[in-house]
Amino acid sequence: MKTLLVANPKGGSGKTTLAVNLAAMLAQQGNNVRLLDLDRQQSAQIWLSRRPTQLPAVWPYHADTPSATRAGWLIIDSPAGVHGKMLARMLKLAQYVLVPMGTSLFDREAGMVFVTALKEEKAVRKERVRLGVVGMRVAPRTWAAQQIEAFYTGHGLPVVTMLQDTQAYVKAAFEGKGIVDLPVRQTLREREQWQTLMDWLSRDE
Ligand SMILES: Nc1ncnc2c1ncn2[C@@H]1O[C@H](COP(=O)(O)OP(=O)(O)OP(=O)(O)O)[C@@H](O)[C@H]1O
Ligand SMILES: [Mg+2]
Repeated sequence: MKTLLVANPKGGSGKTTLAVNLAAMLAQQGNNVRLLDLDRQQSAQIWLSRRPTQLPAVWPYHADTPSATRAGWLIIDSPAGVHGKMLARMLKLAQYVLVPMGTSLFDREAGMVFVTALKEEKAVRKERVRLGVVGMRVAPRTWAAQQIEAFYTGHGLPVVTMLQDTQAYVKAAFEGKGIVDLPVRQTLREREQWQTLMDWLSRDE
């Protein structure tokens, strides 16, 4: 099972939005997708419980899932405030880590503390884990987008994509959906932004 961890200790940085949309996207592509919610708030789990059965399935992850059904993807949504041993434990599970980042100076400063800690973890040092940043709530071709790109790339961190601020994410979540489950005509720009992320995931396949 390919495992992707979504993590950023900063509360409200967009972890759950990124995690559930990734799950929906991978499911829509025909993958077997499981979602593990490590947050006590259970936001991803709530999303999952609202997911319409007629949409491509996203399954909850259970440790006793039989190995025969373990092909595909496991997406892990993590809580705010993760650090130390908990972070190391979560990293052991993952081959991909995505860090959703807001655009403010304060998002960036807090984010860099986290990324610095991540880079010191063995799994990242040994390049067993692929690490990427996702700009959250950032419109492409804006000053903020340029800042994000220049800053993280300058620190050797790929900016995998930037997801614009749109009510479509908020609305979709209420319906147990990802952006990919909404009508294509209403989500053309969002889909373009997601394509870059999906390309990044499939690059080493
Ligand atoms: N691209 C976006 N466009 C519009 N709203 C967004 C976008 N990304 C995230 N949000 C909103 O920002 C808020 C925080 O997002 P989210 O809950 O995903 O963050 P989180 O990191 O999981 O928070 P927590 O640390 O509490 O778990 C939510 O209201 C979500 O709907
Ligand atoms: Mg969350």
